[in-house]
Amino acid sequence: MKFGYFDDANKEYVITSPKTPLPWINYLGSENFFSLISNTCGGYSFYKDAKLLRLTRYRYNNVPFDSNGHYYYIKEGDTIWNPGWMPTKTDLDAYECHHGMGYSTFRSSKNDLQAELTAFVPVGKNCEINQLTLTNNSKETKDFSVFSYVEFCLWNAMDDMTNFQRNFSTGEVEVHGSAIYHKTEYRERRNHYALYAVNAPVDGFDTDRDSFLGAYGENSAPEVVVSDQSKNSIASGWAPVGSHHLKVSLAPGESKTFVFILAYIENPVEEKWIGRAEDGKINRTRAEALMKEFDTKEKSEAALAELKKYWDELLSHFTVSSSEEKLDRMVNIWHQYQCMVTFNMSRSASYFESGIGRGMGFRDSCQDLLGFVHLIPDRARERILDIAATQFEDGSAYHQYQPLTKKGNSDIGSGFNDDPLWLIAGTAAYIKETGDYTILDEKTPYDSDPSKATDFMEHLRRSFHYTIDHLGPHKLPLIGRADWNDCLNLNCFSTEPGESFQTFGPSEGPNAESVFIAGMFVRYGKDYVEICRHRGLEDEAKLAENAIAEMEKTVLDAGWDGEWFLRAYDHYKNKIGSKECEDGKIFIEPQGFCVMAEIGLKEGNCLKAMESVEKYLDTKYGIVLLQPPYHRYHVELGEISSYPPGYKENAGIFCHNNPWISIAETVVGRGNRAWQVYTRTCPAYIEDISEIHRTEPYVYSQMIAGKDAPNFGEAKNSWLTGTAAWTFLDVSQYILGIRPDYDGLTVDPCIPSTLDGFEAKRDFRGVTYHISVRNPKHVEKGVASMTVDGIAVDGNTIPLPTGKTEVSVEVVMG
Ligand code: BGC
Repeated sequence: MKFGYFDDANKEYVITSPKTPLPWINYLGSENFFSLISNTCGGYSFYKDAKLLRLTRYRYNNVPFDSNGHYYYIKEGDTIWNPGWMPTKTDLDAYECHHGMGYSTFRSSKNDLQAELTAFVPVGKNCEINQLTLTNNSKETKDFSVFSYVEFCLWNAMDDMTNFQRNFSTGEVEVHGSAIYHKTEYRERRNHYALYAVNAPVDGFDTDRDSFLGAYGENSAPEVVVSDQSKNSIASGWAPVGSHHLKVSLAPGESKTFVFILAYIENPVEEKWIGRAEDGKINRTRAEALMKEFDTKEKSEAALAELKKYWDELLSHFTVSSSEEKLDRMVNIWHQYQCMVTFNMSRSASYFESGIGRGMGFRDSCQDLLGFVHLIPDRARERILDIAATQFEDGSAYHQYQPLTKKGNSDIGSGFNDDPLWLIAGTAAYIKETGDYTILDEKTPYDSDPSKATDFMEHLRRSFHYTIDHLGPHKLPLIGRADWNDCLNLNCFSTEPGESFQTFGPSEGPNAESVFIAGMFVRYGKDYVEICRHRGLEDEAKLAENAIAEMEKTVLDAGWDGEWFLRAYDHYKNKIGSKECEDGKIFIEPQGFCVMAEIGLKEGNCLKAMESVEKYLDTKYGIVLLQPPYHRYHVELGEISSYPPGYKENAGIFCHNNPWISIAETVVGRGNRAWQVYTRTCPAYIEDISEIHRTEPYVYSQMIAGKDAPNFGEAKNSWLTGTAAWTFLDVSQYILGIRPDYDGLTVDPCIPSTLDGFEAKRDFRGVTYHISVRNPKHVEKGVASMTVDGIAVDGNTIPLPTGKTEVSVEVVMG
């Protein structure tokens, strides 16, 4: 069952019912000011940091779900309704929510009154614009009221929802004409405030929540709206809100547009404006200038057009055209859009991440890079260096860092032993995309301490050596607190059966080892070797090659279980992910990574591992993380066994590592299977089962309940997941096979045999490549010939052209 449809021409998903199984959201903003907005106008805004500078208040886990947002109430006679349906939930005669690239438009009507509301964050501005157009489609004049409503957050979202003894006494506002200023300061005085204004004279306003809602009132029926009369309340303490009252009269066929602006304003410190001026009033200069920029419909529409142009340009660097409409839709629009959102948000703010919990993940952000580096290489460079600056001198890393301070998060600490290798992965992707080796010379601190800086190349060396220096009893990498699988905590152990568990120190115990990290080490170690060679570090390159060869041997000796790769050894040196285990006999992660690393490719281990994944882990909704699920809690395995069977890491379908298998299938040349794995979790391909899948059908979720769960097929945790980058990497670089490499662009498709071929356009290092792939023999993999501007070339890497900006490439598979 569907709740909408894709509109590819406009790059939108159009939701046709407000009653989606879960709120289906969109993100506004791409630099500093961001808003989350659901298909019923729920959501909130923040500036830079969702925890510290939250503009509007949201209540997660609220009842009803998603019942706070930026709302517009229309009151005509006794009928009160909202263009986004919530919070009044009045039945609408028409409703559509168009989630587009950085904007959302609601088109609704009730009793021949039509509302069109478009919300967006203009490029380069710290504000959200809400453009509301009302049209009278009836034959009579219509007189009605519009009430706007936002609830301000007292900036620090964590404090805002916990520290009431203080916060009920801090709220302050100012109102000047149609502009409402929220000026509550958070502890130390700050030079910022929020503005909520409309470009028309108002018939009233409210800034005090209780006055607006009424005693014991709720936002589904605010007292002010019901009585059709604002109270001009000025908040003092308690809960400041912003509401404008506009009385509107429309002749038949007439339309009127209002432009609302919600902004974050900061006055520069050099003006010595600390908190407030001597008369206690705020400095409104910047707010007034900003209001002028959006005081007409024409100005707001021009800003929306500019935003659309920005996205069209961004998404033009990689496009595909094939007979598979859904493939084109995902590659050209939604994969890349989600990658940009994960770049902006990391794992901070979604409808599953509260914006106050996690900072930026070291591993997460390095992986996100793989998906967006071609879109914004300069920001990727900056991000890599920011991440590296939080690394410790021994090569290990803070698992997370704070976006505002860019400092490592000491609450979480370090000890995730895969983290250092992800830095090599992200850097290799950046260099392959841009050819920019100068990044290696950048002076980069350790632990955010500039006095402890080396060049960035040295960071990579320490990352690589961290694994070599931390090997366990089988010479496999020590796992530490966990590897990619945060919940596989093998250094939890009990000294006596039944005793509560203990853990080793912050870093790792002496025994527990990870075959997954071994796979990573081999795969990204090869990139490290290439980078060393390019720097002329031949001795280091040889050393690394030897270590990699040694690790491959170790994996085949100690990490192979007969039909698949083992997952790990626990503290007691017992195997994890082996046929010998009662539960958790086979895990997905080492199959993906060891095959991507080509460990035992010639010997047949890779194909065997892929066959085992298909045999033991496959389901109709995707590949589960492990089988059989853990049925009881194992102290020696940690959090993983605490989940009920079929959820999260305990045999859920982790969408994040399904593309590892799809990529691994391209390594063994099975294009049909790579495609099957790709399409099974791909949003556009499962749109029809939205009532089962439940999360947004235009983006990936982190996890889908596995076959052992009662809600098999139901997804959770949409938007902010490494799945975004990995699935785009899979489809663009391995299935379509257009892959940046150190010396040029490689074309190595591995596609379903039914596909005749495809056309692609790829911008790469200043050149636009027009690539045409034909598949006359309907093979799954293999390039029979390649011509570049009509000239046949050997192999399938396009030599870097000189003096050209457009290149045509013809590839024939066979
Ligand atoms: C984390 C990832 C982790 C994954 C698997 C996600 O929630 O963001 O870093 O690899 O879970 O445990």
